[in-house]
Amino acid sequence: MKIISLFLCPFKGAIKKLNVIRFKSSDYWEERYATGGTSGVGSYGELATYKAGVINAFISAYQIRSVIEFGCGDGNQLAYYSIPEYTGLEVSKTALKGCEERFQGNRSKRFLLYDNTFPCVSGSLEKADLTLSIDVLYHLVEDDVFWTYLKNLFHHSRRYVVVYSSNFDGIHDSPHQVDRRFTPLIEKNVKGFELMRTIINSHKGSKTMSDWYFYRKRQ
Ligand SMILES: C[S@@+](CC[C@H](N)C(=O)[O-])C[C@H]1O[C@@H](n2cnc3c(N)ncnc32)[C@H](O)[C@@H]1O
Repeated sequence: MKIISLFLCPFKGAIKKLNVIRFKSSDYWEERYATGGTSGVGSYGELATYKAGVINAFISAYQIRSVIEFGCGDGNQLAYYSIPEYTGLEVSKTALKGCEERFQGNRSKRFLLYDNTFPCVSGSLEKADLTLSIDVLYHLVEDDVFWTYLKNLFHHSRRYVVVYSSNFDGIHDSPHQVDRRFTPLIEKNVKGFELMRTIINSHKGSKTMSDWYFYRKRQ
């Protein structure tokens, strides 16, 4: 057994890469939610409270009215936010339906299907003061999905973009996660925005490797 695993060892990286190539992130999330799964530990309990604390403080400090979140998930994290006008985009139809039911009658929130195209929602989505990418970037396994998502995230912001994500290159055993060092990619490819602030996550550990990245539109 030991000999076999020694023999397989050099191929482990290649196998991981192959899993990444085969993987379709939207199918993974739809199946996860459709079978009773949630947005994950990062969107519940003390991490949800922590994330909302940072976002609510930013919204209040910069007098943000409208927000578009790219990848709103099951809505648990959203319940902690104080946002005057919120649009949540999601790739999973099941999660979207769950959000619509959970926030039914709440006129400050609406939910739309994210279709991995640019411009998204058939070009009908307007801009908001702030766009959010919270615990989503490292789930965008496919390169084309990642780049289209980034383009949409910045295109739909009038003033600020907040990203909460890991920021290093890494592949995981589970194929639904690929870390990317994304800040240099944004600096090189996204004109018109600048990184105004980063905050190191005080809860970093086994449950999260995300930090905060705040971008503002250049004057
Ligand atoms: C870990 S959850 C985070 C959800 C939410 N932002 C939060 O903080 O609770 C990641 C979410 O990203 C969504 N997602 C995955 N790929 C996406 C894509 N290409 N566009 C938009 N959302 C996506 C998943 O469906 C999932 O709901």
